[in-house]
Amino acid sequence: MSKHGTTEKVVKIISAHLTETHIDVFNLRDVKAPDINNYDFVIIGGSIHAGMVQKRIKQFCINYADILINKKVGLFLCCMEVGEKAIVQFENAFPEALRRHAFYTGLMGGECLTDKMSFFERNLVKLVVGGPEKYPRLDDKAIETLLKQLNGFMPAMN
Ligand SMILES: Cc1cc2nc3c(=O)[nH]c(=O)nc-3n(C[C@H](O)[C@H](O)[C@H](O)COP(=O)(O)O)c2cc1C
Repeated sequence: MSKHGTTEKVVKIISAHLTETHIDVFNLRDVKAPDINNYDFVIIGGSIHAGMVQKRIKQFCINYADILINKKVGLFLCCMEVGEKAIVQFENAFPEALRRHAFYTGLMGGECLTDKMSFFERNLVKLVVGGPEKYPRLDDKAIETLLKQLNGFMPAMN
């Protein structure tokens, strides 16, 4: 799930690099209950707004817990916090059992796409973050790490 497009961008980058395998992308905003039974891998990505991940991400992890525990699972978040605060947000976003089970957990950094924000959000971001020079960026290394791990599984997938 993605509010202003950053998480969506990360998903597109990941999908564009995995040309050797079949991928389906579900936006939980539009598809509330995707059928994930036939997939080997499930990568779940969301973003943090006011300290919380999207409710549908949380609900998905709860509703699909029994299925997910039998899949290879990756979990990632986009957010602007770093360090301990980001880790706490991550821990609150995904259930402990799923975090422990996941082959990949990652913080992908964030962006402030102000042109996609409401007037209120734009002003809030300006106030909290400061000017554009202080806006967060995507963490290319974190994305690369997920891709490397996925590519490591590829022989087993063929
Ligand atoms: C109104 C607003 C509130 C935000 N609150 C937080 C927050 O509490 N913690 C955080 O780490 N990032 C926060 N962010 C940063 C977003 O997580 C970041 O912009 C991310 O890239 C958004 O991804 P998305 O466009 O996929 O939703 C906030 C951003 C906005 C616009």
